[in-house]
Amino acid sequence: MKHLLSIEDLDRAAIERLCDRAASFAEVADRPIKKVPALRGRTVLNLFYESSTRTRSSFELAAKRLSADVVNFAASGSSVEKGESLRDTVQTLAAHQPHAIVIRTPWAGASKLITQWTDAAIVNAGDGQHEHPTQALLDVYTLRDRLGSLDGLNVWIVGDVRHSRVARSLVLALQTMGATVTVAGPPTLVPQDIAVLGCQVRYSLDELPQADVVYALRMQNERMKQAYVPSLREYAANYQIDSRRLGARQLLMHPGPVNRGVELAGDVVDGPRSLILDQVRAGVLVRMAVLYEVLASGGGPSTPASGPGRGRGTDHPNPELHPA
Ligand code: NCD
Repeated sequence: MKHLLSIEDLDRAAIERLCDRAASFAEVADRPIKKVPALRGRTVLNLFYESSTRTRSSFELAAKRLSADVVNFAASGSSVEKGESLRDTVQTLAAHQPHAIVIRTPWAGASKLITQWTDAAIVNAGDGQHEHPTQALLDVYTLRDRLGSLDGLNVWIVGDVRHSRVARSLVLALQTMGATVTVAGPPTLVPQDIAVLGCQVRYSLDELPQADVVYALRMQNERMKQAYVPSLREYAANYQIDSRRLGARQLLMHPGPVNRGVELAGDVVDGPRSLILDQVRAGVLVRMAVLYEVLASGGGPSTPASGPGRGRGTDHPNPELHPA
């Protein structure tokens, strides 16, 4: 795998392989010294043009646990504020010869575009409303870890589907793994054409009790150019997941950050059915697996011949788990 730009690039076998590799890294998180030398000598550049808590911190931690050197770049406080273009910024930072660039931008397709400007392996950490493949992978990992398999699982994705890159990647990943997906929300926030992805579309939560997993989405106010719901109070009355709507056997997920009192009631966020913090923990493991794979398969300008995966059997999920 040279880059990870879209979940569409991954078939079921590739998703299984990444999850297996992530699981093999779980043991590192339990060690007193949480580090393995797998990516020693490699440089990972985190390029974030949008705010992030979970994604940025977990990519940084993932790279550091694999002993890579990490450069964190946030657009605010950089020369972007002086008008430097994406292309000039990428080419400037690429002069430092990073082996991988993790990029989040508000622009759909930006991660693919920058593959033309650098030899580094590119990982899409969210491109506008388009895709967020590592979020979908960590969600699949979380469910697989909890339930063993996603085959036949009934997942409802509820909320602001229109503006959600998470939804687009997640529908595809869940279906690839054998789940049935329904997206639900007000008609203004659930475009009818999302059905081309193969999911069902509902505009009420009447049938929510049939779901095994309820995946709530944040109301993406920062992407809204007009009012999509009459009021947040009315939205919450019809679509908020609370202890009345969440059944005792249903699991709850959310990519974060949560708007408590809007898409989710506070008690279900903190309740026993919530996998929200499991998702955050899975984020580090899955991003370790992704960085490992893009760098082990020859990504970056100067991959050392003795690097991980070279002559050691790249198919093995856990080739180099020695303490650093
Ligand atoms: C998501 C994102 O940024 O797309 N968050 C995340 O990466 N965990 C979802 C969101 O912002 O609502």
